[in-house]
Amino acid sequence: MKLSPSLLSADFACLLDEALSVEDLVDRFHWDVMDGHFVPNLTFGPPVVNALRKKLHIPFDIHLMIDHPEVYAPQFAIQPDDVIIFHVETQADPLELFRSIRAKGARCGITLKPGTPLEDIVAYLDHVSMILVMSVEPGFGGQQFMPEALTRVRELRQLIGARDIEISIDGGINETTIRSVAQAGADIAVAGSAIFGKPDRAAAIHALRQASRE
Ligand code: DX5
Ligand code: ZN
Repeated sequence: MKLSPSLLSADFACLLDEALSVEDLVDRFHWDVMDGHFVPNLTFGPPVVNALRKKLHIPFDIHLMIDHPEVYAPQFAIQPDDVIIFHVETQADPLELFRSIRAKGARCGITLKPGTPLEDIVAYLDHVSMILVMSVEPGFGGQQFMPEALTRVRELRQLIGARDIEISIDGGINETTIRSVAQAGADIAVAGSAIFGKPDRAAAIHALRQASRE
């Protein structure tokens, strides 16, 4: 299973050092972009993510928890394997946004809040290469894993069939929950506090990887 640490739980006073402390041990970086409208929290946007993009080498997953992602998605200086993930709740017709993300050379991802029916994204399976299953209400790190997300992962695995789509799961991932998400069929685990909340990041990452294989 791939690991994508969420920098939301890193020390913002030294974001680059935080990212570099784990870059060689993980697969992707997860960036939680929040606007204080779509979710009740504010984080960072294109200027910060783009500055870090120049210094880091592994792919970025840019999780847009913002209204009007169509305005901001084109402002990210992405590299080819980066994924821009937006919330289906923000778009009446996501097809135009998929086109504009692809035109920038990024991969498309879609996500949904825990209360949004899975059917709302099923029509877009042919347009995305990543689906992010939220296992907490978006907005904050350090929340408790919602086990209903496991059913979603299993259902999605069926619906995806032979399509080349990665399932990522986001929120409340730790040494206990990562086992069940691996068993349910997720490809990528996002982890914020379970990595950056720990003093020894290498040990935390090792423990997560170990647990995902058990
Ligand atoms: C929540 C974010 C998550 C969050 C996960 O809105 O989308 O990516 O950082 O944090 P943990 O792993 O601490 O639940
Ligand atoms: Zn996220």
